[in-house]
Amino acid sequence: MSRIAYVNGAYVPHGDAMIHVEDRGYQFADGVYEVCQVREGVIVDLSRHLDRLDRSLKELRIDWPMHRGSLIHVIRQVLRRNRITEGMFYLQVTRGVAPRDHVFPAEGTRPSIVITAKRIAPSVIAAKNAKGLKAITVTDNRWDRVDIKTVGLLPNVLARQEAKEKGAQEAIYIDCEGKVKEGAATNVWMVDKDGVLLTRPAEHGILRGITRTTLMDVASRLGVEIREQEFSRDEMMNAREVFITAATSICLPIVEIDGKPIGNAHPGIVTQKIREAFFEIAEKTPI
Ligand code: PDD
Repeated sequence: MSRIAYVNGAYVPHGDAMIHVEDRGYQFADGVYEVCQVREGVIVDLSRHLDRLDRSLKELRIDWPMHRGSLIHVIRQVLRRNRITEGMFYLQVTRGVAPRDHVFPAEGTRPSIVITAKRIAPSVIAAKNAKGLKAITVTDNRWDRVDIKTVGLLPNVLARQEAKEKGAQEAIYIDCEGKVKEGAATNVWMVDKDGVLLTRPAEHGILRGITRTTLMDVASRLGVEIREQEFSRDEMMNAREVFITAATSICLPIVEIDGKPIGNAHPGIVTQKIREAFFEIAEKTPI
């Protein structure tokens, strides 16, 4: 069965899914996106993802491409037409197509919207969870507004590529004071020696991950103490456990950073407990 994408009002074969050369997403990275997990035939945390989309669009003064209800309908259609029950969808909205000019285009320019979906076998994520991932640390060289989920991800691309070339799967950004920020496409967490779960506050300097927000509900339900508190690279290196979160894979253990083992170099028990409870507590929207 061939993959189907949604592009500006039409469901098209994935191979024919095209945008205009003067789309502002293509020329200026003038757009925002969301990635949502699909598991056991339901969309995970859809309301929170659409709320964040609303925030990102407002921050950039881009209009919604359609009403929220219609967007949910189109998302479901894309998932159904691709027969996705395990995987993810990707949604991107840009400021639309206009003659190249840095300032915003004329009033009434329609935003562009693209939605694609991809199957991810649960066994792929299970294998990563069983083994754990390796990470490297890199200096944060991104712009100041990483709280907006924009498609301008070149520093993140370069950081992930550097990780790959060093035999790792994620790059963790460190700020100029030696404090941990977030991963190239994930939020970062550590469990300290007292079993307390720490993650950096999301008011500034990182993306407020939806998985991060839901994980706080999960941790409190499990009775795991959680603190939104900065921690340094050194504290992370000496943590009992480190893990990363993102909608695509929820919560993945990090067992090695910059070539040094974390904890006992195996996926940790807190990480596992949280992962197991996550799906039950997250919002589930049927396809
Ligand atoms: N990335 N921080 C960054 C920089 C991210 O790109 C992401 C998500 C997160 C976690 O956010 P959430 O829990 O809402 O997925 C944190 C997505 C998955 C991506 O770019 O593919």
